[in-house]
Amino acid sequence: MPNATPAALIPTLQASVDEALGTLVPDLEPAELYEPIRYVLAGKGKRFRPLLVLLTARALGTSADDALPAALSVEVFHNFTLVHDDIMDHSDERRGRPTLHVRWNDSTAILGGDYLYLVAYEQLALLPPAILPDALRTFNHMVKRLCEGQMLDMAFETRPRVSVAEYLDMIDGKTGALLVASLELGGLVGGATDEQRTALRTAGAALGRAFQIQDDLLDLMTTSAKWGKRVGGDLIEGKKAYLLLQALERAEDDDHAWFQRIVDDKGLPADQVDDARERMLRLGIIDQTRQTAEGYYGEALDELDVLPDTDATALLRDLIGTMRARLY
Ligand code: IPE
Ligand code: IPE
Ligand code: MG
Ligand code: MG
Ligand code: MG
Repeated sequence: MPNATPAALIPTLQASVDEALGTLVPDLEPAELYEPIRYVLAGKGKRFRPLLVLLTARALGTSADDALPAALSVEVFHNFTLVHDDIMDHSDERRGRPTLHVRWNDSTAILGGDYLYLVAYEQLALLPPAILPDALRTFNHMVKRLCEGQMLDMAFETRPRVSVAEYLDMIDGKTGALLVASLELGGLVGGATDEQRTALRTAGAALGRAFQIQDDLLDLMTTSAKWGKRVGGDLIEGKKAYLLLQALERAEDDDHAWFQRIVDDKGLPADQVDDARERMLRLGIIDQTRQTAEGYYGEALDELDVLPDTDATALLRDLIGTMRARLY
């Protein structure tokens, strides 16, 4: 990997992840399988998870080259989860393009996802034998938690009531687990002490909550041209995401009835998304949600004090700052 000045390191690492993803799966036959897989990996993802791996390893003194297989492994696995998530959530758009199951079909998306799952483990297997058993334990545990979270997310769609505690447990699985694994694998590659590993796990869990609550917020509130997903999609699908849960908890009278109808009807007509946004703003739900995400980002940053005071640790903080900056 090329040498870069500290400030340029994040885009440099991002570019090396993109480049590696571009060649990871060759253009083979049958094209019906390989073309959609390559389409997914070529999508413009933010690559936060592999950057977390690379910067954590580097903060502990290990070169980004040595950490690359672990970084690719978490990013490929993430891409796999998105392919299946988009089938489950009936999402037509991802990273500004049609989702795999829309551009091709459900069967291709299921199979393409299966293949990506394999590629994730293939990368993980490239780790040094001394840390491989530990890395596999970390990864396997993440997969279980992620599946549990994704199942709960779907189960909540038809449940009349979901508490904030239940929601947090669900997102700890569907989103937190992979962020925990990203920091922990970076730590493993970098030779983290037990104390550092524990703090990295705690940081990942807080980051997961911050990131998913923010994703739920942006799902309705984004004005970014780069969002790449259908705005208001969670409400249209009737998902018990953070904003709707808060609305049901805090709204009264007419407002409460208005939000309750989304639950009863199992979704909101697309032409009422603007109305939902205005009500949420008026009820203070948007501000409160932003503050909640802020709090979790702060907790994640605090835990990073366990890492040595290096340029890479500062960059890891910068990266989390970039993630957090999307709140505004
Ligand atoms: C989307 O993750 C899924 C969530 C956990 C919210 P990202 O927002 O990291 O998606 P990409 O990889 O940048 O497309
Ligand atoms: C993200 O949940 C969790 C996983 C994909 C595993 P979402 O369903 O909110 O993610 P987006 O909004 O589709 O990216
Ligand atoms: Mg989902
Ligand atoms: Mg989704
Ligand atoms: Mg979402």
